[in-house]
Amino acid sequence: MRSLIDITDFSPEELQELMDTACDIIANPEKYQDSCRRKKLATLFFEPSTRTRLSFEAAMLELGGNVLGFSEASSSSVSKGESMADTSKILSCYADIMAIRHPKEGAPYVAACNASIPVINAGDGGHCHPTQTMADMLTIYRECGRIEHLTVGCCGDLKYGRTVHSLLSALTRYEGIKVILISPKELQLPEYMKQDVLDKNHVDYVEITSLEEALPQLDVLYMTRIQRERFDDATVYERLKDSYILTPEKLESAKETMRILHPLPRVNEISVKVDDDPRAAYFRQALNGKYMRMALILKLLREAEAGLQMPREDTLDNVLYCDNPNCISSVEQELPHRFRPTNPATGEYRCIYCETKKHKKN
Ligand code: CP
Repeated sequence: MRSLIDITDFSPEELQELMDTACDIIANPEKYQDSCRRKKLATLFFEPSTRTRLSFEAAMLELGGNVLGFSEASSSSVSKGESMADTSKILSCYADIMAIRHPKEGAPYVAACNASIPVINAGDGGHCHPTQTMADMLTIYRECGRIEHLTVGCCGDLKYGRTVHSLLSALTRYEGIKVILISPKELQLPEYMKQDVLDKNHVDYVEITSLEEALPQLDVLYMTRIQRERFDDATVYERLKDSYILTPEKLESAKETMRILHPLPRVNEISVKVDDDPRAAYFRQALNGKYMRMALILKLLREAEAGLQMPREDTLDNVLYCDNPNCISSVEQELPHRFRPTNPATGEYRCIYCETKKHKKN
């Protein structure tokens, strides 16, 4: 069954097709109002959410379908110890498609391996958030008129920021993308993202700590929240939480055509005084998320009816062990530790759930 776990599961052509469908939905909503009649979307949210869960539900309702699900882990049998594999098999009996948010990295992948319906990753720990990227892409496309040849600044928590990881994975496949990574040293982009995404795609990028230095160069500023819930040490969070605060005064040096995106929720990293600036696109971005999720539900249900499958990967099972405490393999007792080869020359492997790097000696 074809699912969406990582944004690169879709080619740039497929993302364009989704953006075209979303634009057609915006122009002709009545054309789609019965497209999912008698279909059910299950939303399994093991972590808090406002936008993702409710925009998925609004998307399915506007397509004429129905929704079921839960919004916290404590109201599901996972709190009694049920595995992700069993949960996804059960949900396959009740729904036609499911969206999962989970604090453990790789949980939606495990669900997709066990479900007989399409699974959508609605955010897994600090790993990735592909449907947020779809909202970001449509926003860039509608606001800037193109995806190519843009200078994009990502600012804030680039270490744990799953929205940034997914966005960079998508954008770096387009021509002429320049990236400015703006973060405190402690929250820099993970090495695997730099190696596997930026270096591999020959992307022109720099890492800096000053937002003011980057602002005049940017076509898109992607602000993110410093995420309290991802820190083991509260004192580090307290020290870093006010690293970046965008104000109207700072924006004076930015281009008039620049667009400000933020996956939201925000805490204080964008002053509310910026909201009335025409460059502030973050509320329009949240609305775009609903249209892209409508387009995604239509695509995955259509492909499920056509019998399309997820490609199988060659993996090494239970030879290397993942020691990332945020990986789904750290909590699911019988889940195999699975690694994909990423660099045969050096014996480098990555955990299939969370991307943790390991080396295998021959
Ligand atoms: N952008 C985003 O994922 O928001 P929620 O956490 O409210 O779903």
